[in-house]
Amino acid sequence: MLSLAVLVSGGGTNLQALIDAIRQNKLPGVSIEVVISNKPEAYALVRAKQAGIRTELILKKDYESRQAFGDALLGLLKKYNVDLVVLAGCLFIIPEQVIQGYKNRIINIHPSLIPAFCGNGFYGLKVHEAALARGVKITGATVHFVDEGCDTGPIILQKPVEVFEDDTAETLQKRVMEEAEWIILPEAVRLISENRVHVRDSRVYIDRT
Ligand code: GRF
Repeated sequence: MLSLAVLVSGGGTNLQALIDAIRQNKLPGVSIEVVISNKPEAYALVRAKQAGIRTELILKKDYESRQAFGDALLGLLKKYNVDLVVLAGCLFIIPEQVIQGYKNRIINIHPSLIPAFCGNGFYGLKVHEAALARGVKITGATVHFVDEGCDTGPIILQKPVEVFEDDTAETLQKRVMEEAEWIILPEAVRLISENRVHVRDSRVYIDRT
C-alpha cells in the first residue's frame, strides 16, 4: 500500500484527478490518507471531504519559525504514515527538514515543460502568461521530485500541449490541465506505487518492462 498526503492551496483539480483515478481502480494499492492545505478556503478541501478523505490545515502564522512550521508538517506526515507527498497546486514552500526527511518521496506538478517557465514567481496563470508572451508553440506539464531548489528536482514525466494563436492564459491553463496535468500526475503516482521509478545522479529512470 502506498499512502499519500496531497498538499494543496487552491481549486484541487489535480487532487480530483487522483481521487478519480483511485475510484476507477487505476491506482491499485494507492490511498490518499490526508489532504493538507495552508488555505482554509481552498476548494480542494471540499473535494477531499466529499471523497471522505481526512483534511488538515497548516497555517504558517501559527508557528513562530520556519523550523517549527516544518516540524509541524513533518508531524502530520508521520501521524498519517505517509509514504509519498504529492504537491498538487501547493503554494507554500516546503521546509528543508521535510525535503530531507522525504528525499525522492515528494513530487510536484508544474504547468510547463521544465526548464521553461519555472522557478521563483512562476506559478498559476503567470506560467501561461509567460509562455504566451514568449510565443512558444508547444508548452505542457511536468511531474518532478522536489529538492531544495525551486522546480529543480529530477523530472519524472512530461507531456507536451499545443499553444493556439488565439489562446489566453486562461484557455491555455485549461488545456494544459486537461491534456497533460490530470494525466501525468496519476500516471507518475502509479509508476512510483509499482516501484518503477528510480533516481540516479539526479536523473529519473523508469522501469518499463
Ligand atoms: C496547476 O496548474 C498545477 O500545475 C500548479 O498549480 C495548479 C493547481 O491547480 N502547480 P489545482 O488546484 O490542482 O486545480
